[in-house]
Amino acid sequence: MAVYHILLVHFPIALWLIAYLFIILRLFWKTEITIYLAKSIWPLILFGSLIGAAAYILGLQIYPWSAITQSPLGRNHIMLATWTLTYWSVVGILGFRLRHHLFEGSQRWVTFVLSSIGALVVVITGTLGGSLAGTPSLVTKSLSYVGWNVYTTFYLPDWMLIAFAIGAVLLIVLGYLGRTSARNT
Ligand code: HEM
Repeated sequence: MAVYHILLVHFPIALWLIAYLFIILRLFWKTEITIYLAKSIWPLILFGSLIGAAAYILGLQIYPWSAITQSPLGRNHIMLATWTLTYWSVVGILGFRLRHHLFEGSQRWVTFVLSSIGALVVVITGTLGGSLAGTPSLVTKSLSYVGWNVYTTFYLPDWMLIAFAIGAVLLIVLGYLGRTSARNT
């Protein structure tokens, strides 16, 4: 299974990072070509997420769950892979719905920050995968400079999971209230 996971993961990594490149080009240079390239951002993210989901499922088949979760490196890779896949999927759907406003005025800085977070989590997921496969990169080493030794450090406090759950429910309620009030105006 490892070989299929490794074969497949390069597609979502490339697709998401190309989408990021097109977002950056469109954000800082408004030319005919960047506007044209920007039209392909959403299909790129969508395909990235679809193949990413397949790669994710294949990744889970490589080792038994009890084995991969024994090592902090394995848990870090799974955690970052989960963030990466969900993050790009959500950013892709929301970005598509709000696509007419993303590159204008001060909103462009929100787009810049959100897409850069997306690029960062893909890069970290990839480097952790490389470290799992025995080919650590300089990115893995750089993470130790900010205090994260990926081979030994894994920390996810329970209160954070509770905060995530509360945040998710809150966002759904806010979205529902927002839609109802928009309908009434
Ligand atoms: C979007 C999700 C994911 C991405 C982008 C990703 C990325 C990667 C990358 C880039 C590699 C190294 C490939 C290479 O050396 O050429 C790798 C290896 C690996 N990944 Fe993932 N991965 C993802 C999800 C997962 C998940 C959910 C698991 C589950 C445990 C997993 C388990 C592994 C393992 C065990 C290896 C090492 C394979 C080996 O020893 O040869 N991956 N991954």
